[in-house]
Amino acid sequence: MTMLLNITINGQQRTFEIDAKQTLLELLRSQPEYQSVHRSCEEGECGACTVLLDGEPVNSCLILAASVEGATVLTSEGLVRQGQPHPLMQAFTAELGIQCGFCTPGMLMNSYALISGAGDIELTDQQIRKSLEGNLCRCTGYVNIVNAVKKAQQAKNGGQWW
Ligand code: FES
Ligand code: FES
Repeated sequence: MTMLLNITINGQQRTFEIDAKQTLLELLRSQPEYQSVHRSCEEGECGACTVLLDGEPVNSCLILAASVEGATVLTSEGLVRQGQPHPLMQAFTAELGIQCGFCTPGMLMNSYALISGAGDIELTDQQIRKSLEGNLCRCTGYVNIVNAVKKAQQAKNGGQWW
């Protein structure tokens, strides 16, 4: 069964004809604009498919597209502004928090939610690791990712954030 879905993705209102059984991940992967959203386990275990749904990080592989009528979705493509990488992306690059890059978009979206919701007090390693425990990385050992999140929070506290 097909149906129409109205949704806002990265600030753009979109309408899609979807299959009622299609996941949000499958919908995003079917569109060339959202290829940062990665497909891996499709069981909610790896976090590669993480996007923000109405501001909250979710595993898009576990969500039926039909259930998000009227919602707002943010993918890491939506963090780029006028061709400029987001300060969070810059921090991941500067701290070498990216190796193969497969986990990175999911890491970015979870980190973005964490930092955006955090106050001025510096996040601890433990808080960052707890927040990112659903995002698996087989390359970095996480230390550089934790450092990148800290650097990004400093950028936010310095007024460099959008
Ligand atoms: S692909 Fe969604 S959590 Fe792994
Ligand atoms: S950088 Fe390769 S999986 Fe994280």
